[in-house]
Amino acid sequence: MKLRRKIRKLFTGESLASANKHLRRKLRKPKFPLDRQRIIDTINLDEFAKIRLRYETDPASKRWSKYLQLEHWIDINIQRIRRTGLDAKPSQRVLDLGCGAGYFIYIAQLLGHDCVGLDTDEQRMFTETTRLLEIERVIWPIRPFVPLPPLGKKFDLITAYRICFNNHKCADLWGVSEWEFFLDDLAKLLAPRGRVWLELNLERDETFYPSELRNFFLSKKAKIKGSRILFEC
Ligand SMILES: C[S@@+](CC[C@H](N)C(=O)[O-])C[C@H]1O[C@@H](n2cnc3c(N)ncnc32)[C@H](O)[C@@H]1O
Repeated sequence: MKLRRKIRKLFTGESLASANKHLRRKLRKPKFPLDRQRIIDTINLDEFAKIRLRYETDPASKRWSKYLQLEHWIDINIQRIRRTGLDAKPSQRVLDLGCGAGYFIYIAQLLGHDCVGLDTDEQRMFTETTRLLEIERVIWPIRPFVPLPPLGKKFDLITAYRICFNNHKCADLWGVSEWEFFLDDLAKLLAPRGRVWLELNLERDETFYPSELRNFFLSKKAKIKGSRILFEC
Protein backbone atom coordinates (compact mmCIF):
# COMPACT_ATOMS: atom_id res chain seq x y z
CA MET A 1 0.00 0.00 0.00
CA LYS A 2 1.35 3.44 -0.88
CA LEU A 3 2.62 5.52 2.08
CA ARG A 4 0.31 8.43 1.23
CA ARG A 5 -2.73 6.15 1.34
CA LYS A 6 -1.55 4.60 4.63
CA ILE A 7 -1.21 8.04 6.22
CA ARG A 8 -4.63 9.12 4.92
CA LYS A 9 -6.17 5.96 6.40
CA LEU A 10 -4.63 6.79 9.80
CA PHE A 11 -6.15 10.26 9.77
CA THR A 12 -9.63 9.27 8.59
CA GLY A 13 -10.01 6.38 11.05
CA GLU A 14 -10.14 4.03 8.05
CA SER A 15 -7.15 2.26 9.52
CA LEU A 16 -9.04 1.27 12.66
CA ALA A 17 -12.08 0.17 10.66
CA SER A 18 -9.98 -1.98 8.35
CA ALA A 19 -8.02 -3.46 11.30
CA ASN A 20 -11.36 -4.38 12.89
CA LYS A 21 -12.55 -5.98 9.67
CA HIS A 22 -9.26 -7.89 9.43
CA LEU A 23 -9.59 -9.15 13.00
CA ARG A 24 -13.22 -10.20 12.50
CA ARG A 25 -12.13 -12.11 9.38
CA LYS A 26 -9.45 -13.92 11.36
CA LEU A 27 -11.82 -14.82 14.21
CA ARG A 28 -14.87 -15.77 12.16
CA LYS A 29 -14.60 -18.84 10.00
CA PRO A 30 -16.70 -18.04 6.89
CA LYS A 31 -19.66 -20.32 6.21
CA PHE A 32 -18.40 -20.71 2.65
CA PRO A 33 -14.93 -20.06 1.18
CA LEU A 34 -14.76 -16.87 -0.88
CA ASP A 35 -13.13 -18.68 -3.74
CA ARG A 36 -14.19 -18.11 -7.35
CA GLN A 37 -14.11 -21.75 -8.42
CA ARG A 38 -15.79 -23.03 -5.25
CA ILE A 39 -18.62 -20.56 -5.85
CA ILE A 40 -18.95 -21.43 -9.55
CA ASP A 41 -19.04 -25.13 -8.66
CA THR A 42 -22.30 -24.51 -6.76
CA ILE A 43 -24.04 -23.18 -9.91
CA ASN A 44 -25.89 -25.43 -12.36
CA LEU A 45 -23.53 -24.79 -15.28
CA ASP A 46 -25.57 -26.77 -17.81
CA GLU A 47 -28.54 -24.49 -17.22
CA PHE A 48 -26.26 -21.44 -17.18
CA ALA A 49 -24.86 -22.47 -20.57
CA LYS A 50 -28.40 -22.59 -21.96
CA ILE A 51 -29.02 -19.02 -20.77
CA ARG A 52 -25.72 -17.95 -22.31
CA LEU A 53 -26.70 -19.56 -25.61
CA ARG A 54 -30.04 -17.77 -25.62
CA TYR A 55 -28.73 -14.29 -24.81
CA GLU A 56 -25.10 -14.04 -25.88
CA THR A 57 -25.98 -13.42 -29.49
CA ASP A 58 -29.36 -11.76 -28.95
CA PRO A 59 -29.05 -8.16 -30.24
CA ALA A 60 -31.76 -7.04 -27.78
CA SER A 61 -29.56 -8.20 -24.87
CA LYS A 62 -26.30 -6.79 -26.20
CA ARG A 63 -25.96 -4.23 -23.39
CA TRP A 64 -26.45 -6.88 -20.71
CA SER A 65 -24.86 -10.08 -22.06
CA LYS A 66 -21.49 -9.06 -20.57
CA TYR A 67 -23.01 -10.16 -17.25
CA LEU A 68 -22.80 -13.74 -18.52
CA GLN A 69 -18.99 -13.73 -18.17
CA LEU A 70 -19.36 -15.73 -15.02
CA GLU A 71 -15.75 -15.78 -13.78
CA HIS A 72 -15.33 -12.04 -14.24
CA TRP A 73 -18.54 -11.16 -12.39
CA ILE A 74 -17.97 -13.64 -9.60
CA ASP A 75 -14.58 -11.98 -9.02
CA ILE A 76 -16.17 -8.52 -8.97
CA ASN A 77 -18.82 -9.65 -6.54
CA ILE A 78 -16.30 -11.35 -4.24
CA GLN A 79 -14.63 -7.93 -4.03
CA ARG A 80 -17.98 -6.30 -3.25
CA ILE A 81 -18.62 -8.84 -0.50
CA ARG A 82 -15.20 -8.12 1.03
CA ARG A 83 -15.58 -4.35 0.78
CA THR A 84 -18.95 -4.40 2.54
CA GLY A 85 -17.47 -6.74 5.16
CA LEU A 86 -20.15 -9.38 4.59
CA ASP A 87 -17.48 -12.09 4.74
CA ALA A 88 -16.69 -11.07 8.31
CA LYS A 89 -20.14 -10.49 9.76
CA PRO A 90 -22.81 -12.69 11.32
CA SER A 91 -26.01 -13.12 9.32
CA GLN A 92 -27.20 -9.79 7.93
CA ARG A 93 -30.45 -8.84 6.18
CA VAL A 94 -29.41 -7.46 2.80
CA LEU A 95 -31.43 -5.65 0.13
CA ASP A 96 -29.72 -5.22 -3.26
CA LEU A 97 -31.39 -2.61 -5.48
CA GLY A 98 -31.07 -3.14 -9.23
CA CYS A 99 -29.71 -6.61 -8.46
CA GLY A 100 -29.16 -7.53 -12.14
CA ALA A 101 -27.92 -11.10 -12.65
CA GLY A 102 -28.01 -11.69 -8.87
CA TYR A 103 -24.38 -12.68 -8.23
CA PHE A 104 -23.89 -10.38 -5.22
CA ILE A 105 -26.91 -11.82 -3.44
CA TYR A 106 -25.98 -15.34 -4.46
CA ILE A 107 -22.56 -15.13 -2.81
CA ALA A 108 -23.97 -13.30 0.23
CA GLN A 109 -26.47 -16.14 0.65
CA LEU A 110 -23.72 -18.76 0.46
CA LEU A 111 -22.18 -16.89 3.41
CA GLY A 112 -25.42 -17.24 5.35
CA HIS A 113 -26.96 -13.80 4.85
CA ASP A 114 -30.69 -13.27 4.34
CA CYS A 115 -31.05 -11.41 1.04
CA VAL A 116 -33.64 -9.88 -1.27
CA GLY A 117 -33.06 -8.30 -4.66
CA LEU A 118 -35.16 -5.62 -6.29
CA ASP A 119 -35.21 -4.93 -10.01
CA THR A 120 -37.46 -4.24 -12.97
CA ASP A 121 -38.40 -7.26 -15.05
CA GLU A 122 -37.38 -5.57 -18.29
CA GLN A 123 -34.39 -7.84 -18.85
CA ARG A 124 -35.53 -11.39 -19.42
CA MET A 125 -31.91 -12.52 -19.10
CA PHE A 126 -31.78 -11.31 -15.48
CA THR A 127 -35.11 -13.00 -14.79
CA GLU A 128 -33.53 -16.25 -15.94
CA THR A 129 -30.22 -15.88 -14.07
CA THR A 130 -31.90 -14.88 -10.80
CA ARG A 131 -34.30 -17.81 -11.18
CA LEU A 132 -31.39 -20.18 -11.79
CA LEU A 133 -29.55 -18.79 -8.74
CA GLU A 134 -32.79 -19.05 -6.71
CA ILE A 135 -32.76 -15.44 -5.67
CA GLU A 136 -35.73 -13.81 -4.01
CA ARG A 137 -36.44 -10.81 -6.22
CA VAL A 138 -39.05 -8.09 -5.86
CA ILE A 139 -40.09 -6.63 -9.18
CA TRP A 140 -40.37 -2.90 -8.74
CA PRO A 141 -39.19 -0.05 -10.96
CA ILE A 142 -37.61 2.64 -8.79
CA ARG A 143 -39.05 6.02 -9.76
CA PRO A 144 -38.23 9.51 -8.52
CA PHE A 145 -40.37 10.61 -5.56
CA VAL A 146 -42.09 7.21 -5.32
CA PRO A 147 -41.42 5.20 -2.14
CA LEU A 148 -40.20 1.61 -2.38
CA PRO A 149 -42.87 -1.03 -1.75
CA PRO A 150 -43.30 -2.56 1.72
CA LEU A 151 -40.71 -5.34 2.01
CA GLY A 152 -41.86 -6.85 5.29
CA LYS A 153 -38.61 -6.34 7.19
CA LYS A 154 -35.78 -3.94 7.93
CA PHE A 155 -32.30 -4.37 6.49
CA ASP A 156 -28.81 -4.23 7.98
CA LEU A 157 -27.34 -3.42 4.59
CA ILE A 158 -28.90 -1.88 1.48
CA THR A 159 -26.69 -1.97 -1.60
CA ALA A 160 -27.00 -0.70 -5.16
CA TYR A 161 -24.20 -1.33 -7.64
CA ARG A 162 -23.70 0.34 -11.04
CA ILE A 163 -26.84 2.30 -10.44
CA CYS A 164 -29.10 2.95 -13.42
CA PHE A 165 -32.36 3.78 -11.62
CA ASN A 166 -31.20 7.39 -11.19
CA ASN A 167 -31.90 7.85 -14.92
CA HIS A 168 -28.26 7.19 -15.65
CA LYS A 169 -27.01 8.95 -18.81
CA CYS A 170 -30.43 10.52 -19.39
CA ALA A 171 -31.37 14.18 -19.55
CA ASP A 172 -33.49 13.78 -16.39
CA LEU A 173 -30.64 12.34 -14.29
CA TRP A 174 -31.52 12.52 -10.59
CA GLY A 175 -30.42 15.62 -8.76
CA VAL A 176 -30.34 16.53 -5.06
CA SER A 177 -34.12 16.52 -4.51
CA GLU A 178 -34.61 13.04 -6.06
CA TRP A 179 -31.73 11.64 -3.98
CA GLU A 180 -32.99 13.33 -0.82
CA PHE A 181 -36.41 11.70 -1.20
CA PHE A 182 -34.82 8.35 -2.02
CA LEU A 183 -32.38 8.35 0.92
CA ASP A 184 -35.13 9.39 3.36
CA ASP A 185 -37.19 6.49 2.04
CA LEU A 186 -34.26 4.03 2.40
CA ALA A 187 -33.74 5.22 5.99
CA LYS A 188 -37.21 3.85 6.82
CA LEU A 189 -36.10 0.40 5.64
CA LEU A 190 -32.90 0.33 7.70
CA ALA A 191 -32.45 -1.62 10.92
CA PRO A 192 -30.62 0.15 13.77
CA ARG A 193 -26.94 0.62 12.76
CA GLY A 194 -27.91 -0.24 9.19
CA ARG A 195 -25.79 0.83 6.24
CA VAL A 196 -26.47 1.99 2.69
CA TRP A 197 -23.78 1.26 0.11
CA LEU A 198 -24.23 2.91 -3.30
CA GLU A 199 -22.03 2.75 -6.38
CA LEU A 200 -22.77 5.20 -9.16
CA ASN A 201 -22.02 4.86 -12.83
CA LEU A 202 -19.96 7.31 -14.84
CA GLU A 203 -22.17 9.90 -16.50
CA ARG A 204 -21.74 11.47 -19.92
CA ASP A 205 -19.46 14.16 -18.51
CA GLU A 206 -17.12 11.42 -17.14
CA THR A 207 -18.01 12.23 -13.52
CA PHE A 208 -20.00 10.12 -11.05
CA TYR A 209 -21.87 13.12 -9.61
CA PRO A 210 -21.82 16.91 -9.90
CA SER A 211 -20.23 18.75 -6.97
CA GLU A 212 -23.66 19.86 -5.74
CA LEU A 213 -24.69 16.21 -5.30
CA ARG A 214 -21.37 15.28 -3.71
CA ASN A 215 -21.83 18.11 -1.19
CA PHE A 216 -25.36 16.90 -0.49
CA PHE A 217 -24.09 13.35 0.18
CA LEU A 218 -21.39 14.76 2.46
CA SER A 219 -24.01 16.81 4.31
CA LYS A 220 -25.74 13.49 5.03
CA LYS A 221 -22.48 12.20 6.56
CA ALA A 222 -21.62 9.93 3.62
CA LYS A 223 -18.16 8.48 3.22
CA ILE A 224 -17.27 8.92 -0.44
CA LYS A 225 -14.57 7.25 -2.47
CA GLY A 226 -14.90 7.73 -6.24
CA SER A 227 -18.09 6.01 -7.35
CA ARG A 228 -18.73 4.58 -3.86
CA ILE A 229 -20.96 6.29 -1.32
CA LEU A 230 -21.48 4.79 2.12
CA PHE A 231 -24.01 5.89 4.74
CA GLU A 232 -23.82 4.44 8.23
CA CYS A 233 -26.51 5.03 10.87
C1 LIG B 1 -25.82 -1.79 -14.78
S1 LIG B 1 -26.94 -2.99 -14.14
C2 LIG B 1 -26.14 -3.41 -12.63
C3 LIG B 1 -26.55 -4.77 -12.11
C4 LIG B 1 -25.93 -5.12 -10.76
N1 LIG B 1 -26.28 -4.15 -9.73
C5 LIG B 1 -24.43 -5.22 -10.87
O1 LIG B 1 -23.72 -4.25 -10.60
O2 LIG B 1 -23.96 -6.29 -11.26
C6 LIG B 1 -28.28 -1.97 -13.61
C7 LIG B 1 -29.42 -2.73 -12.98
O3 LIG B 1 -30.40 -1.79 -12.53
C8 LIG B 1 -31.69 -2.23 -12.95
N2 LIG B 1 -32.54 -1.05 -13.10
C9 LIG B 1 -32.51 -0.10 -14.07
N3 LIG B 1 -33.46 0.81 -13.86
C10 LIG B 1 -34.10 0.44 -12.73
C11 LIG B 1 -35.19 0.97 -11.99
N4 LIG B 1 -35.82 2.09 -12.38
N5 LIG B 1 -35.60 0.32 -10.87
C12 LIG B 1 -34.99 -0.81 -10.47
N6 LIG B 1 -33.95 -1.37 -11.12
C13 LIG B 1 -33.52 -0.75 -12.23
C14 LIG B 1 -31.42 -2.96 -14.26
O4 LIG B 1 -32.48 -3.84 -14.57
C15 LIG B 1 -30.13 -3.69 -13.92
O5 LIG B 1 -30.38 -4.88 -13.25
